[in-house]
Amino acid sequence: MATIIKGGTVVTAEREWRADVVIEGDTIREVTADVDTTGHDVVDAGGCYVMPGGIDPHTHMELPFMGTVASEDFFSGTSAGFAGGTTSIIDFVIPGPGDSVLDAYKTWRGWAEKAAGDYTFHVAITWWDESVHRDMGTLVADHGVNSFKHFMAYKNAIMCDDETLVNSFSRARELGALCTVHAENGELVFRLQKEIADKGILGPEGHPLSRPPEVEGEAANRAIRIAEVLGVPLYLVHTSCIDALEAVTRARLEGQRVFAEVLAGHLLVDDSVYRNADWRFAAHHVMSPPFRSKEHQDALWRGLQSGMIQTTATDHCCFRTVQKQMGKDDFRSIPNGTAGIEDRMSVLWDQGVRKGRLTRSEFVAVTSANAAKIFNIYPKKGAIAPGADADIVIWDPDGSRTISAETHHQQIDFNIFEGMTVTGIAKTTLSRGKVVWHDGDMRSVRGAGRYIDRPPFGPYWDAQRTKNRLAEPVAVDRG
Ligand code: URP
Ligand code: ZN
Ligand code: ZN
Repeated sequence: MATIIKGGTVVTAEREWRADVVIEGDTIREVTADVDTTGHDVVDAGGCYVMPGGIDPHTHMELPFMGTVASEDFFSGTSAGFAGGTTSIIDFVIPGPGDSVLDAYKTWRGWAEKAAGDYTFHVAITWWDESVHRDMGTLVADHGVNSFKHFMAYKNAIMCDDETLVNSFSRARELGALCTVHAENGELVFRLQKEIADKGILGPEGHPLSRPPEVEGEAANRAIRIAEVLGVPLYLVHTSCIDALEAVTRARLEGQRVFAEVLAGHLLVDDSVYRNADWRFAAHHVMSPPFRSKEHQDALWRGLQSGMIQTTATDHCCFRTVQKQMGKDDFRSIPNGTAGIEDRMSVLWDQGVRKGRLTRSEFVAVTSANAAKIFNIYPKKGAIAPGADADIVIWDPDGSRTISAETHHQQIDFNIFEGMTVTGIAKTTLSRGKVVWHDGDMRSVRGAGRYIDRPPFGPYWDAQRTKNRLAEPVAVDRG
């Protein structure tokens, strides 16, 4: 017996058309008009769009960070994703400096066994020696990892210096893996934090003052130039400002293979939140890079519309009020992070598609298909096509809800989109063929999520490689 999604309009990153979707087991068997449903399970999609489930390429479930552990775990977090139409996540393995990279990967794999939805991992390189070089190879060859993360900020914790960056980028190039960066100059942040604290500014308003756009622009440009010289593609996570976007745009116009991600939060929340008189409210917005002024938000929307930014994410990293209070007396100790996995697709539909900034196919591209392509899991993920995993959201364009921490499924007592009424909601979500969310009814199953293997770019790598500014070196013949 198959499951048939009946009567909807299928939307992919390429086009939209009226069709039924026939699912057998985990996968899509057929996408065609007017299928006979006799003897099969039917899921009604009348009046709705049938789209690939969202892929959030940037989450941090149960992350140990800044002296505490993120309050959302892999089960609750992937379930919250289902409520909003997201069916897969790319989370981060983050070993501490000196820690075995392979052991850290195995630890995160263990934590993720409880996930309800499918998941995979970027692996952070936070230090360098021969074992890291070897483990990167093992991860690519044997464990389906094809992207490595580099934090250019968080000095004295997980920050990666330029030497490590260069070593890791070179190794990634050899392996056919993608490099990703959190672009902020950690030395500058450290200096500015001290200057601001010395002036007696210790509340959350000190956080954005210590991380101005220039700090992000410098690091973005540095990472891009290093990637260019070494000839390796680069992906910038949470691009938040004009300064970084300009660096990405210039590189792309020069033919360099650089990708950029923007967070739903950076598109919709501005920096006035840090000046709110309520400490709790301001502290719940402490994340890095910080929320920016409207001028930067407008530029990010234009970046997304023009294709200079290819993906949207959340950087879902939840800390409850009691955890944020670790920084009650000093903003430097407020755990950095905000939530969003449940709301990303709705806020992007509401503010993107309904406002005419994105077409429906562009919406699919920036919420799902582009991430699948960039991280080499397309068309298994990110597509509605025979053979693809049946990760599907049935999207009600007229359904509406008001976002609130009172009603959301995320394990955090705050929501950065609180009070926003969005039109466009996930009516039904299917994860590998199973209905996991339907009309407000959560049907997620602990441990049902599967690890997604992401092969290296292999034979495609030469085409994927960025142009390399350095000409082929030639020795001078002096007779
Ligand atoms: O503030 C943030 N973004 N917390 C999570 C870690 C990171 O930098 O992505
Ligand atoms: Zn980051
Ligand atoms: Zn992050």
